[in-house]
Amino acid sequence: MLDFIRYNEHLTGTKIGCREGDCGACTILTGELKNGMLNYSSATSCLMPLGNAAGKHIVTIEGINLEGLNVMQEAFTEEGATQCGFCTPGFIVSLAGFCISEKTPTYSNAIDSVNGNICRCTGYKSIERAAATINERMQQRNGKDSLEFAVENKMVPGYFLGIKERLQKFSLPTNGKDSNGMQAKYLGGGTDLYVQQHDTIVHEDIDFLFDKQHLNGIFKNANICEIGAAATVSDIASSLVFKDHFPKLDEYIKLVSSTQIRNMATVAGNFTNASPIGDLTIFFLALNARLKLVTGNTAREIYLKDFYKGYKSLAKTPDEIIERIFFELPGQNDHFNFEKVCKRTYLDIASVNTAIRLRIEHNIIVDAGLSSGGVGPIPAYLFKSSEFLVGKKISSELISELIALAQTEISPISDARGTEEYKRLLLSQLIKAHFIKLFPALPLEQVMHL
Ligand SMILES: Cc1cc2nc3c(=O)[nH]c(=O)nc-3n(C[C@H](O)[C@H](O)[C@H](O)COP(=O)(O)OP(=O)(O)OC[C@H]3O[C@@H](n4cnc5c(N)ncnc54)[C@H](O)[C@@H]3O)c2cc1C
Ligand code: FES
Ligand code: FES
Repeated sequence: MLDFIRYNEHLTGTKIGCREGDCGACTILTGELKNGMLNYSSATSCLMPLGNAAGKHIVTIEGINLEGLNVMQEAFTEEGATQCGFCTPGFIVSLAGFCISEKTPTYSNAIDSVNGNICRCTGYKSIERAAATINERMQQRNGKDSLEFAVENKMVPGYFLGIKERLQKFSLPTNGKDSNGMQAKYLGGGTDLYVQQHDTIVHEDIDFLFDKQHLNGIFKNANICEIGAAATVSDIASSLVFKDHFPKLDEYIKLVSSTQIRNMATVAGNFTNASPIGDLTIFFLALNARLKLVTGNTAREIYLKDFYKGYKSLAKTPDEIIERIFFELPGQNDHFNFEKVCKRTYLDIASVNTAIRLRIEHNIIVDAGLSSGGVGPIPAYLFKSSEFLVGKKISSELISELIALAQTEISPISDARGTEEYKRLLLSQLIKAHFIKLFPALPLEQVMHL
């Protein structure tokens, strides 16, 4: 998408920084119709496959210029929030996304919209002040239609009001057949593939999975949650099913990449990339998720915990597509927690991450799942530790024994994210964190000093 914008369309306001999704200089907005509603979300165009733009409104910095400065540009100028200006188009586009989103306008949401944008020279205080000014303007929206308000208030140009009608005129096949057996490469959001295989992937045959209807949606059937494989991290973050069953969802999601990447990154992409530190993989391993794999007319199911055979080696043939993911939603007796430690808190991959699920009936653990990433060649489901918990009562002694057992199940190596010893220590501390957060009545001092 970035190359198309700059070299085909000659729209050079969108900048090239890292080409790896890390800096946000290339941020664009994509507008699409979902259930008859027009929604805009931000994306890093350097990682966005051009094929994923089909049927959408792509907005670059040029597309939000007005006669004179728009509200975001005005705020940046007044607050001195730009110096060399290289990062500025990315920030302005992300903030335009905030202005036209249906989310409640709050300072925190304004800041979240730019959490994937990096500035090397201004210092973030002036950018934060500009975001605060923009948020103040948004306070006058008072339930008004977000696009109408943004147009009236010089945030985006008037042509935005005609986009819904223009998109309705497209008739795109949403149920395109999968290319099983045709050797085409499967592609979700592209946030792994375009980083890892940037030079070769543009020449390959691609099966674009991102917008296929049968690979999307998040549903609840009784106590089972069913997720389309191409659902994104942002889809999970906004899903009422997830919000209902994971009270700390927002805290977990904030630890995963950035707003732009979350809008593109799919669940199946995370699983298939098989990174030992994939956050969604660790999250769903503890939930004992099942995958539906499909090839041609054949379908089979496999537990996520049985999906990883060795480093980047999967229990799946190359032509099998992950179609759906299932897991049992946590109920009243269930306790779930996710923890992640990185070198920096946000927009970073984990040194070690871990998730736990415990079902407790009459003070006894009757079912458990413990997973951890960054502690071996594959995203690890800690089989022995999970089994060990069943039939036990929660106590500091139990946590101590669990930590000792978990240490026998892992094999971390020293690398850029920490030494072997550090990662072992991290897992022990994060297991304590699980119990401290889930059972605040536990004697904290005792657990901390285990
Ligand atoms: C800047 C940046 C920050 C990141 N931060 C994090 C982070 O904090 N935590 C984290 O976990 N990850 C992070 N990632 C990694 C990445 O965003 C995730 O792994 C993401 O979920 C990958 O999904 P995708 O749809 O983009 O995958 P793609 O790149 O489209 O595909 C990845 C692999 O999955 C395959 N695939 C995709 N869908 C299917 C399917 N339905 N069936 C079979 N195969 C399929 C593809 O063929 C490919 O092999 C980050 C990436 C970037 C660039
Ligand atoms: S160029 Fe840095 S995120 Fe795209
Ligand atoms: S103003 Fe120079 S990088 Fe942000």
